Amino acid sequence: MKRKIIVGNWKMNPTSLAEAQNIFKKVKATALKLKSTHVIMCPPFVFIGKFAPMKTTGKAKSTIGIGAQDVFYEAQGAFTGNVSPPMLKSLGLSHVIIGHSERRAAGETDEVVSKKVLATLEAGIHPIVCVGEVTRDPQGMYLETLRNQIKASLSKVPKKLFNQIIIAYEPVWAIGAKEAMDPATIEEMTIFVKKVVSDMSDHENGISTPVLYGGSINFRNAPDIMTRGKVDGLLVGRESVNTPGFVELLKAVDPLK
Ligand code: PGA
Repeated sequence: MKRKIIVGNWKMNPTSLAEAQNIFKKVKATALKLKSTHVIMCPPFVFIGKFAPMKTTGKAKSTIGIGAQDVFYEAQGAFTGNVSPPMLKSLGLSHVIIGHSERRAAGETDEVVSKKVLATLEAGIHPIVCVGEVTRDPQGMYLETLRNQIKASLSKVPKKLFNQIIIAYEPVWAIGAKEAMDPATIEEMTIFVKKVVSDMSDHENGISTPVLYGGSINFRNAPDIMTRGKVDGLLVGRESVNTPGFVELLKAVDPLK
């Protein structure tokens, strides 16, 4: 059974530590019973210190880890309000989401994303690099836009470190929407993303780079998207803080081949 990667991006939720602890406790209890799923919960920075360090191994190939939703590219210094990769590493964090579309919309450029990815790798943490087109034009120009975004976002990554990266393909128009992208198109896009990444690295590392899908995932559509979309995992937003839904999602995805 293939190991699946399920990342919960809590975004700026919930509003209290008590609620955060409640979500965390319930998800952890389920995640540790899974057989072949790696669950990574990414709470807001203020809550991270309460849950980390945590890289617990449950049954068989299942593990659960803590990730951050962003990071800065310098290690330390006069950068008010920022948090560095070595700080996250010292708390035992395994993953960091970088270049989420909500951060890109707030002005984060591909150049900044690539610096953050490199700094994260240098600290020994896996970056989950978010890419995705904002809109789709009938001529298919979005493919070129996406290719350029991937290349620019990974431009500073040494070839030998491509196997430490996870890519989250998130079509921006499907984030926070009513419906996810259809599984057949997800499969096509996953192949496209893997091809671009493998062209950048030495071939094998690119192909083995896990590609997750994100955008309006819930416990109902997750299994179909995993199997027909042929992705290595999912980046889940809203459903990751809806504890009953997320628990259902994990249980539904874990037995998939
Ligand atoms: P959503 O968010 O699942 O709420 O659409 C996904 C994301 O932004 O990563």
